[in-house]
Formats: sequence, structure tokens, C-alpha cells
Amino acid sequence: MKGVLLAGGTGSRLYPLTRITNKHLLPIFDRPMIAWAIEALVNAGIDEIMLVTGGTHAGEFLRLLGNGHAFGIDRLSYGYQENAGGIAEALGLAERFADGEPVLVMLADNVMERSIKPMVDAFRAEPQGARILLTPVEEAEHLRHLGVPVLSTDGRVERIEEKPEVPASHFGVTGIYCYDADVFRIIPTLTPSGRGELEITDVNNHYVDRGEMAFDVLEGFWGDAGESIDAYYTVNDFVRANGANRS
Ligand code: G1P
Repeated sequence: MKGVLLAGGTGSRLYPLTRITNKHLLPIFDRPMIAWAIEALVNAGIDEIMLVTGGTHAGEFLRLLGNGHAFGIDRLSYGYQENAGGIAEALGLAERFADGEPVLVMLADNVMERSIKPMVDAFRAEPQGARILLTPVEEAEHLRHLGVPVLSTDGRVERIEEKPEVPASHFGVTGIYCYDADVFRIIPTLTPSGRGELEITDVNNHYVDRGEMAFDVLEGFWGDAGESIDAYYTVNDFVRANGANRS
């Protein structure tokens, strides 16, 4: 299974910090944010990775990561998103890299206390359709910033709502997704959302509609360090005290 790390976007929620660098290069405790995401993938046994970025600071990734070997990556490819067209558009740039294999996709501002290896292993065992990782979230205010699954009484995902005004469950959809190669046939069928982007939630709902969506619930802390300046510091404080990606 190959890995696609999405590290683009303008990072506008962290302005002015992100006027001088890419969000994913900001520090989380003792290393740049992107290094924690790479560690998550490498710990899950994924050492062939494409990093997709964009904007004005893309060259800094090359300076930090080089060929990736110092970070445990065997083969590192780079992709460049010309416009802020959304997460699904960025993933579409990885089609030739994936070359028909299933992919683990990770938004590089997501930081987890625990390893994602159990989810990746589960998808490796049955590499069809899609698999998402949910995290329990209590506060409705927080859920309004995330993808939120509507769950049926027998525990299936019926639909995913992006940033719902009234969240239908107490789970957030994290930015860690497993897809079969069909994902590259779904992306070209999408139309831009209200925020003018191709949404990863629309990709996921395609799989839900086909009855091909599985999920796991993550244990331990999860944070999206790009969500707000408060979230950025919550993630920093957590990682400084506890580390991340622990098995
Ligand atoms: C994105 C997804 C959302 C998901 C979140 C996790 O939101 O659209 O469904 O819950 O990442 O980090 P965004 O960061 O683009 O607002």
C-alpha cells in the first residue's frame, strides 16, 4: 500500500503564521508538523510516499525532507497543486503515483496519540472500497468544523455530513483514509462545494452509497493542528507532554 500525504492549502486559519511558511512546516513540539505525519505512515509500514503540496513555500519541503531516507521513507515523490482546489483535487494528482494500488491518504495536519497501523492492516487484509478513521468528539462546536458521520442503529455509516450545523453523531471523521484505486475514477465526477473545493467528504459518500465504506474508531488523542490557533496549541501541548504515534 502506498501513502499520499496532503500538505497544501493556504493555512488561512493560522494567519499570520502561515504567511511566512506552509502550515505543515510549523513546529509541533520538537519537529515540523509534517514529520509526525511521516512517522505515522512509516510506523504503519508505508515507505513509498507522495507528498502533495502547493502555494509559495513548497520548496521548503525538499529542503527539509530531501529524498526522505532520513525519515524512514524508501521512495519519496512530490506533487504540486497549482490552485486551492480542495483535498480531493490534491489527491487526484497522485493517480499515476498510485498506479492501480490502494492508497492510505493522510492530511498532514492531523496528529494522533496512537498508531494508525491497526486501521492500515485491516485495509491491507481486505483492500476494497474505503475505510475511514473516526474519533469521538463531545462538543457540538468542534464537530461543526469537521466531517461528521450519520450512523444507523446497527452501527453503519449512512452518510457523512461536512461541517454540519447540527451534528448527527458524536464522532468526527479524521483526515486518515484508505481507498482502493477506484478513488481516481470517483474524483473526476465531483463538483466543487460551496467553498469552491472538491471535498473528500463527497468522495467518501460515493463509497457509502455503494455500501463499500468501513470504519475504525481511533483510541486516544486526535487533533487537527490546522483547525485554529487554539487547536494548534492543544496539539503542541499534548505532543510535548505525551508524544505521538505510539503503538
Ligand atoms: C477536512 C475534512 C473534514 C475532516 C477534517 C479532519 O476538513 O473536510 O471532513 O473532518 O479535514 O482534519 P478541513 O481541514 O478541510 O476543514
